[in-house]
Amino acid sequence: MFEAIQKLPPDPILGLSSAFEADPNPDKVDLGAGVYKDEAGITPIFKSVKEAERRWEQQESTKVYISPPGFADFNTAIQKLILGADHPALLAGRVRSVMTPGGCGALRVGAELINRCKPGATIWVSKPTWANHVPLLGSAGLKIAEYPYYNGATHSVDFAAMVATLESAARGDLLLVHGCCHNPTGADLNRKQWDAVTELAARKGLVPFVDLAYQGLGDGLDEDAYGPRTLSRALPELLLAYSCSKNFGLYRDRIGALLTVSPTPEQADAGITHINSIARGIYSMPPSHGGALVKTVLNDPALYAQWRGEVDGMRKRIHVLRALLADTLKKLGPSRDFEFIKREFGMFSFLGISKEQVQRLRSEYSIYMVDSSRINVAGVSPKNVEYLAQAIIAVL
Ligand code: LMR
Repeated sequence: MFEAIQKLPPDPILGLSSAFEADPNPDKVDLGAGVYKDEAGITPIFKSVKEAERRWEQQESTKVYISPPGFADFNTAIQKLILGADHPALLAGRVRSVMTPGGCGALRVGAELINRCKPGATIWVSKPTWANHVPLLGSAGLKIAEYPYYNGATHSVDFAAMVATLESAARGDLLLVHGCCHNPTGADLNRKQWDAVTELAARKGLVPFVDLAYQGLGDGLDEDAYGPRTLSRALPELLLAYSCSKNFGLYRDRIGALLTVSPTPEQADAGITHINSIARGIYSMPPSHGGALVKTVLNDPALYAQWRGEVDGMRKRIHVLRALLADTLKKLGPSRDFEFIKREFGMFSFLGISKEQVQRLRSEYSIYMVDSSRINVAGVSPKNVEYLAQAIIAVL
């Protein structure tokens, strides 16, 4: 069976982490996978999460299977975090969620659910989008269509082109949108644009599938949820894939959520039975540990306040690093404009350099970024910024 199998190339994002680790250059810089790093280049465990873990270890009395949706008090807390406690869909009992193995698990189960409801449905994804969206959605059987999103010349969202293309979508098509901190570009929709997308989706009967993987790292916990909150106020249906990898720092614990908004509470309950049966056919039930930590944080006022403070600190530091990189590039190579880095949100920006230049940065300077020139801004530090900026200018 395996004699014909061919070796695959490394994953375009995760492969960078292994290559970086194997690189002996002491000056190496990792701007690859989207993980937060502190001043020392470490991805720390949140203090609030560590305390939740200590408490959970004392309290946990069994390792028996958990129910397919996961912990009920995780789900109620995460729904409020995403939509806000007073959201009309929540008050009307039309929202459900389940714990999933990371945001990827949520995307995959969501895609399978769509395919059960509408086999071979078309889902519109932004061009560009996160490298793993197409495999996750496509392998569930969905047809992928693209809408233009980012204009590399202006380093901003090409909203007119996005809307013009989506006008050609068919009633019932799915619309994948990044809730905040667009991956890979860092260019987000503003509130007026979210309102216009909501109007368009309502008028054309499109169903949004929101990927919310960076809540709190763009503009604030509530601010970053403006898009999904607005869409689900105006529309009868919405799916949302949530990740706790970045905003709880629980990357390897694999915890996320799939949230649905349905027209009625009865339809919401019916949807959950399908979500559970889909998960049963893939991984049976979610891992519990990450969910236990998240629910402990979210349901304890003091831990919640501490966690919010930690998320705020990360976000502010990323904005400082954006300014540091843009200003250092300006100082060392004033002919090229990198000011756009300051205007973008979340961990990522597109540098806008060629694949050859990205590869030279890797081979000559041990600077690692995705071939598209996506950088993880959180990998920049006061220690490496001059080296990094000099190298970028040298390859330009
Ligand atoms: C990224 O985009 O770098 C992260 O979401 C990590 C991943 O799984 O690709």
